[in-house]
Amino acid sequence: MNVLLDAETIQARVRELAVEIESDYPDGEDIHLVGVLKGAFVFMADLVRAMTPRVSLDFIAVSSYGQKTHSSGQVRLTRDLDSSIEGKTVIVVEDILDTGMTLRYLLRLFQQRKPKHLRVAVLLDKPERRIATVRADYVGFSIPNEFVVGYGLDYAERYRNLPYVGILLLGPGLKKKPAED
Ligand code: IMP
Ligand code: MG
Repeated sequence: MNVLLDAETIQARVRELAVEIESDYPDGEDIHLVGVLKGAFVFMADLVRAMTPRVSLDFIAVSSYGQKTHSSGQVRLTRDLDSSIEGKTVIVVEDILDTGMTLRYLLRLFQQRKPKHLRVAVLLDKPERRIATVRADYVGFSIPNEFVVGYGLDYAERYRNLPYVGILLLGPGLKKKPAED
């Protein structure tokens, strides 16, 4: 494992993102964060604690398949939101923007539910991997095309609890599995 982003660097950037998000909605407007499970849970926890009390939150869970076998990718909803987002200022919080298939799916789904604003915050962005034309409004770090773990991100459900983001050095024969988030 090579450390790509240490814990202090991440914490400092997350605090900056919180300030950036709040300053975009200056008139005391409520902000509703929607975290994408499981990968976003650590980022979400730090982000909300850096924000003022006008924030509420909810979670959604998806599984993505087929980044190796189907170039189109396929996303399945495994847990829906608890509450309506109609008329709300919604920020989708994701761990990483990779091919973009997951976010494209979620943005289409949420748009149909008529939020007032719909924005995206991601901790990490791997622009080289993009297939779907989606972009995040708030990006923690743009990173190279490497498989990373920690701070919520997993490999086969492991390493989510690391306080830093590291590049996982996969041995020969170990291939990146399709994301199962
Ligand atoms: P996308 O749909 O290809 O943008 O990818 C979405 C999901 O794939 C992310 O939410 C992650 O769960 C997973 N993923 C993509 N890249 C990585 C990585 O480098 N490490 C761990 N998970 C990843
Ligand atoms: Mg994820």
